[in-house]
Amino acid sequence: MKFKIILHEYAECKKINWHLNSEYSLMCLIPLSYCSIEEENLEIDSNLIRRAGAEVHSFLRTLNKAYYKTKKFKNICVNYSGDSEYKNMRVLDDFLEGFVLANYQFNKHKNNPEDNVFKLETDFSNEISSASVIGTCIARDLVNEPLSHLNAEKLSRVLKQLSKESGFKLEVLNEEKIKKLKMGGVLSVNKGSIAKPTFNILTYKSKKSKKKSPIVLVGKGVMYDTGGLSLKPTPNSMDMMKCDMGGAAAVIGTIFALARAKADCYVIGLIPAVENRPGGEAYVPGDVITMMNGKTVEVLNTDAEGRLILADALHYAKRYNPELVIDLATLTGSASRAIGKYGIVAMENYENEVFQKFSSNIKGLVQVGDVVGERVVVQPFWDDYKQELESDVADIKNLGGAEAGHITAGKFLEYFVDYPWIHLDIAGSAFLKQDYLYNKKGGTGVGVRLLTRWLENNRLI
Ligand code: BES
Ligand code: MN
Ligand code: ZN
Repeated sequence: MKFKIILHEYAECKKINWHLNSEYSLMCLIPLSYCSIEEENLEIDSNLIRRAGAEVHSFLRTLNKAYYKTKKFKNICVNYSGDSEYKNMRVLDDFLEGFVLANYQFNKHKNNPEDNVFKLETDFSNEISSASVIGTCIARDLVNEPLSHLNAEKLSRVLKQLSKESGFKLEVLNEEKIKKLKMGGVLSVNKGSIAKPTFNILTYKSKKSKKKSPIVLVGKGVMYDTGGLSLKPTPNSMDMMKCDMGGAAAVIGTIFALARAKADCYVIGLIPAVENRPGGEAYVPGDVITMMNGKTVEVLNTDAEGRLILADALHYAKRYNPELVIDLATLTGSASRAIGKYGIVAMENYENEVFQKFSSNIKGLVQVGDVVGERVVVQPFWDDYKQELESDVADIKNLGGAEAGHITAGKFLEYFVDYPWIHLDIAGSAFLKQDYLYNKKGGTGVGVRLLTRWLENNRLI
């Protein structure tokens, strides 16, 4: 059965009009004023339209639940009403984005999944909108896939497939090569695990791009985080820890989307992939480990593992002489406690002595974040936090004090960078326990639309 939604541009039309075309087809005229849009207003709020898309989706599901079993709406078309000059394709794209993201389901492991996914018959108006939504769903799938089906080596195999599909290049470093590179952080975290670590290098450079220096994206790929020997202390907190590769998933989704849309840019993705487990070989609290860059780290909590694998990847990024490096990580509970599921916590090493002086890069990210609904909140990054990482026996320790844990984690990473760098902690928004707006419970794919939009636009807005 068909369902056609028409976005109706006249502001004076306040009603939602239903047209029953036949027994098998229903049409709905939705005034854009429903989404709080004035015809003249160019500052259309993308977030409202996206949410409207998700609301209409949820309404249709409710309708289908109440309907005859055999006569459910399945095929959905969304259009602008034909008789107007005013056709802002962005409105249509935003509406579709909300609808498609709300339509996502992870049914892979169900024998009898509920058949309530709509088939959308309308295309986005441009490649990048469509690619960034596909990239988001890929990231969600990766996060939702449990460890039993996705460990580090399997992730590399999935990456090979995705690279063929979209056209980015892939190099996978195996354990032997990781040992040769002396990535002490990656190797130590993975020691308690039987599965092998991998280090994945994704490259996408458009044919048009004349750039010499890439933008490097680094993603935390802890396929599962038990906490290691410092086993996670909070009841049930381990249940969602398959999400600890949410940063890696965001990097993969972004590079997939950019390559698929053939965006004009030069990006490299670095993904250290490990498992953090207790075990006979596991690294222990008190250990001193030597990182790839030669710095020594006293491990005081094996659950602060993300920073250890990211540190090696950030050091590895130096060889590209990057214009900018952005890392994404489900790094700290502290980030999640600070702002919850509503946004991404950010830090940068730009003039960080003087708080409130931000780079154009981070200002651009904040602005794009507001438009795509993946909000970025910049945190203070004073050097005072650094003192908390002083160690008695090594160069630094991997644990700060009880407060502002997301910032001391960022400060730890700062030891390993010597280029413009932004750190995004997505611990609060990468995985939801309940549906929220167009995000389903489980992996959200947060970061993909933010970075794809920002990078394809050559970082302008
Ligand atoms: N993966 C966790 C952070 C996390 C928490 C992600 C909640 C998603 C949701 C990270 O490895 C971790 O364990 N962080 C510790 C650090 C602490 C031991 C310094 C934390 O935040 O409690
Ligand atoms: Mn941890
Ligand atoms: Zn972790």
